[in-house]
Amino acid sequence: MSTPAIRSRQLEALERLDVQVNSNPAVMYVESVRGCPYTCVMCMARGTKPVKMPPELLEKLEPFYPDLEVLAIHGFGEPLLADLDYFVAKATEHDIVLHMNTTGFFMSRRVCELLLEARLSIRFSIHAGTSETYRRVMGQDFRKVIDNIKYLTKSAEQSGKDHDFWFSYVVMKETLDDIEDFLRLTRDCGVSSVRFMRLAPNKQSIRGFTLEDRDFRFRYFEQFNRRIFRTFHERYPRYQKLADELGIQIEFGSMESKNAARASAGWLVNGVSRRIIGKKLLPLLRPRGHCLAPWLGQLIVRQTGEVKLCCKTSYLVGNLHEETIGEMWNGDRMERIRRPFSEGRIPRECGYCPGYDMRNYPNNSFPEAERRWPESLPTGGRARKSDKAEARDTEEQPADRQGDRERERVPVP
Ligand SMILES: C[S@@+](CC[C@H](N)C(=O)[O-])C[C@H]1O[C@@H](n2cnc3c(N)ncnc32)[C@H](O)[C@@H]1O
Ligand code: SF4
Ligand code: SF4
Repeated sequence: MSTPAIRSRQLEALERLDVQVNSNPAVMYVESVRGCPYTCVMCMARGTKPVKMPPELLEKLEPFYPDLEVLAIHGFGEPLLADLDYFVAKATEHDIVLHMNTTGFFMSRRVCELLLEARLSIRFSIHAGTSETYRRVMGQDFRKVIDNIKYLTKSAEQSGKDHDFWFSYVVMKETLDDIEDFLRLTRDCGVSSVRFMRLAPNKQSIRGFTLEDRDFRFRYFEQFNRRIFRTFHERYPRYQKLADELGIQIEFGSMESKNAARASAGWLVNGVSRRIIGKKLLPLLRPRGHCLAPWLGQLIVRQTGEVKLCCKTSYLVGNLHEETIGEMWNGDRMERIRRPFSEGRIPRECGYCPGYDMRNYPNNSFPEAERRWPESLPTGGRARKSDKAEARDTEEQPADRQGDRERERVPVP
């Protein structure tokens, strides 16, 4: 764990909205494994060879682990196939929250016990409420995954550590009717938070395809359209009532409708303008807004050595083969992002992103921040506990390898 002095320095820089900081990031996402051999029907990473992060790049990150609060290890692949011994050991040594999205396919008793050595924040991708749907969508054995999750959550209670477990659920035609079963299952698994997600398109799903071991054709606009979206929202009060009875918290996540139409239109215009004039046209006026990521961090370290600002933009802050994380964090490219925020404006590089507040970081991270700002953040954003219902989705989704904006361009149903 970072010393209180290091964490204070990071939080004070945020409090003052310093453009130049003299610290290191507190949150880092490492592309621990790229590619995935599994066959979840909606996923672009499906059926690709998993490649682990090169050890020489990990070595370059090691000097920065002591300052971290959160080390996230998911991306375009399945993190349980990464070098887990390494990541658990580093997270444990420095008391960092080890954060990941995983389907849990690769879990076993041994993997659970290894994971529990660290302080965990895990978002399990479940996307079904019954074995039949799970087999159709995820192509795996539901019971085995659920039994392992139950084992993990039960053992976690006895571990004496503050872990945070969530379920995420991609809403689509195949999964829509399972939601109530899924909520009951969430409670049975000892998990108390659920986030819904929109189905994102990719080239293959827009054309439609059939997997060898599935008996249906998967077409994006059949799986996710205005009718599915509307039905989900019409049924939502029912889900909310059931969730209240079960004692679990549910969030719209990226199924939130607000701003989606404006953002989609904006991405379309920017896509065209980038091709014609070589840069993004919109937003013409920079909107006002706030974000914690330029001060606390959400850096994405890729296996190529490239380091991105966060998972919501393609903006690069540097390359590990040329600079250290510290040099990038305290360098010009980060200043260019912090300056507009320090003046209350969202930088153009951030496009339509609504920004990060505390709800975008794991619930068991930054306890000092909660004590320091129990209600609202110095940036104007919300502190974690004040509003749960509208928390935004922060996760990188598998996508065409054409760039991040492609990935975020979700058609409005
Ligand atoms: C690429 S996965 C990576 C982590 C891990 N393998 C997993 O599945 O949780 C990140 C999240 O995106 C979800 N996902 C995959 N394809 C998607 C799609 N087309 N639309 C929306 N979410 C998708 C996954 O199920 C998962 O919840
Ligand atoms: S959703 Fe996750 S586990 Fe499934 S294919 Fe994609 S990366 Fe692999
Ligand atoms: S506003 Fe969005 S794109 Fe910009 S730094 Fe924050 S999370 Fe990243």
